[in-house]
Amino acid sequence: MEEEQKKIAEEILGLKEERRAVILAHNYQRDEVQEIADFTGDSLELSRRAAGVDCDVIVFCGVNFMAESASILSPEKTVLLPELEANCPMADMVRVSGERKVWKTFPGYDEQPGFTFPHDFTLRDMKKQHPGVPVVTYVNTTADVKAESDICCTSANVVKVIESLPDEEVICIPDRNLSAWAARNTGKKIIAWDGFCHVHDRITAEDVEKARRQHPDALLMAHPECRLEVLELADHVTSTSGMLRFANSSDAGEFIVGTEIGLLYRLRKENPDKTFHPLRKDMICPNMKKTRLSSVLRALKELTHVIKVPEDVRVRAKKALDRMLEIK
Ligand code: 13P
Ligand code: SF4
Repeated sequence: MEEEQKKIAEEILGLKEERRAVILAHNYQRDEVQEIADFTGDSLELSRRAAGVDCDVIVFCGVNFMAESASILSPEKTVLLPELEANCPMADMVRVSGERKVWKTFPGYDEQPGFTFPHDFTLRDMKKQHPGVPVVTYVNTTADVKAESDICCTSANVVKVIESLPDEEVICIPDRNLSAWAARNTGKKIIAWDGFCHVHDRITAEDVEKARRQHPDALLMAHPECRLEVLELADHVTSTSGMLRFANSSDAGEFIVGTEIGLLYRLRKENPDKTFHPLRKDMICPNMKKTRLSSVLRALKELTHVIKVPEDVRVRAKKALDRMLEIK
């Protein structure tokens, strides 16, 4: 850490005590933010932490749906999102009803030939088309979408969640790639929403082949938000923390990492004798990088930005999250 960052980190530590605050950070956060966090993890681990932690304030270093989930699970706590503009474009690809949100553009991605935006209907339209079919919702969604769902899932538990349902057919939103992965691994009929993560969906089978040629001895780990053609070529498909567990316990000494490059910080820190290569160097989520140490300090000083979900939405969204958290 640089001198200036060390000074900010010390101030954060002092204020954290004063406020009885806990700092939670996602595995994609900037190195220095992960460094000062009390706990770093994947979406599932962070939800569990947020539900059980003893504190007055949670500073959530991640994107808005994560802070929203923390607030849904722990409404008595003050949940802060240090950068209000830190959102997940995939979460914005589905709406319950009404007008579609204005699409953001993804530089270097949406100008590709053949690129299409997801379809233009609503979750309620989809439910009407498939009456009685349960809705499994990835946590990368807004609270009102969770509130319309039967159960949530994360990249770590999607297969278990779908298998826990007695139904042979399920609606899966919003990630088409996670849905394809779930269909392949559960044998159930998945009705998929056509959303995607622009960081993971850009990876192709050619990228995998190129990385394999460059690092022939490495094992390749891929996040289930990648396309099925990529997942089928991987040695291991799992969540971000699943990749940490796989790399920590594997006898292999070299890995290609098919997810956002923020994960490399922990992989390298926890495995100093192993080598990690990004599958592609541009696997960067700009929203995850918006939070800096200065944002965390400001959040603690000014108690900004408080994330709160309207109570009627919160109660319904919590049911879907609780149902997921009950699955061991
Ligand atoms: P994980 O739950 O695997 O950490 O993934 C979260 C995410 O946003 C992936 O893009
Ligand atoms: Fe959303 Fe993708 Fe960023 Fe994860 S990496 S927060 S899914 S845009």
